[in-house]
Order: sequence, then C-alpha cells, then structure tokens
Amino acid sequence: MDSFTFFILLLSIAHFSSHPTLYVSGDATSIRNICKQTNYNDLCISSLKSNSSSLKADTKGLAVIIIGIAIANATDTSSFLSSQLLSSTSDSVVKKVVKDCADKYSYATIALQASLQELDLKSFEYAYVQVTAAKDYPNACHNGYKKFPGLAYPIELARREEQLEHMCDVALGIINLLSW
Ligand SMILES: *[C@@H]1O[C@H](CO)[C@@H](O)[C@H](O)[C@H]1NC(C)=O
Ligand SMILES: *[C@@H]1O[C@H](CO)[C@@H](O)[C@H](O)[C@H]1NC(C)=O
Repeated sequence: MDSFTFFILLLSIAHFSSHPTLYVSGDATSIRNICKQTNYNDLCISSLKSNSSSLKADTKGLAVIIIGIAIANATDTSSFLSSQLLSSTSDSVVKKVVKDCADKYSYATIALQASLQELDLKSFEYAYVQVTAAKDYPNACHNGYKKFPGLAYPIELARREEQLEHMCDVALGIINLLSW
C-alpha cells in the first residue's frame, strides 16, 4: 500500500464508527430511503432508475450499479480528453496537461474497477478507499491546470469533474450503509 492509499484509508476510518440503517432489497421505497442518505439524493435516484436491475438489487447491488455508471463517466472523459489531444493545439504545455488529465481519468476507472472487486469480496472498507481515490483523480486533473495560471480550465472538463465526483460521492454514501 503506498502512502497516498494509506492516507485515504486513515480518512475512511472515521466511517467505521457510524452505520446508518441498512436496507435489504432495492424496491422503489428502499431506493428512496438509501438515496436520502447520500449527498446527492436526486442524482442517486435518477441514476438508479436508469437501470432496471436496481429494483431487484440489494444495497451492495445498488452500489455496483452506481459504480458502473461512474466507470462509464470516467472512461468517457478519458477518451474525450484523448481525442482532444489528437484534434487540438500543438502547444506542448497544453498537450501535457491534457494528457495528464486523460491518465488521471483512466486511473479513476481502474480504481472504480478495483472497488467492484472489493465489493465482491465484501471488503467494504477497501471498496470505500478505492472509490475515494477515484473521486480524487478529477481534482488532481484540475490541479494540473492550476499550475499554469494562463491556462483556462475548460467548462466541459469542470462539468465532467463534477459529474464523476458526485457519482463517486453517491457510491460512497451507499457503501457506507453496508455492514463493514
Ligand atoms: C445495470 O447495472 C449492471 C451492474 O452494473 C450492469 O451490468 C448492466 O449493464 C446495467 N444495465 C444497463 C441497462 O445499463
Ligand atoms: C455520466 O453521468 C451522468 C450523470 O451525472 C449521466 O447523465 C451521463 O449519461 C453519464 N455519461 C456517461 C458517458 O456515462
């Protein structure tokens, strides 16, 4: 475990202590109850509604569905940035910043995939750590832009950053409801 992961693990230990109500099946009522306990209730509900298997899923299954959407988001942004690299500027600073961001979003995908494996193993605290790491990568991309004050952070990227961070937050809220 590297020191960053360890740091994130320490941060997540605060979550060991409190476990709100655990809901078992994913019918419409329990989806509402579960989503209420996340930071983005509306996003949680609309995301789960978009996948019909959520009606049959248990709490862990709902986390898996949200993480699946987050993976789609991260992967889409990574390829969006890679296509920007091919089409846009020849400015080497811009190219490096965009390339670093594409990498960050693909690391987010890898962390989210790892979180699915941890959920499968019922290692909920490690799933939490992985999703927390995934949530931090878009911010790491943003920080890359901040190093070059002349370089504007694209609105489209800001939108995608928020999308992935909020989706990860919803996943963390649901994982928090599982019995660790
Ligand atoms: C619903 O979620 C499951 C689990 O992530 C996934 O395998 C499936 O492809 C999703 N279905 C749709 C329609 O997105
Ligand atoms: C990413 O997440 C948003 C919700 O924030 C969703 O509407 C959108 O379709 C997702 N994009 C992809 C490519 O999965």
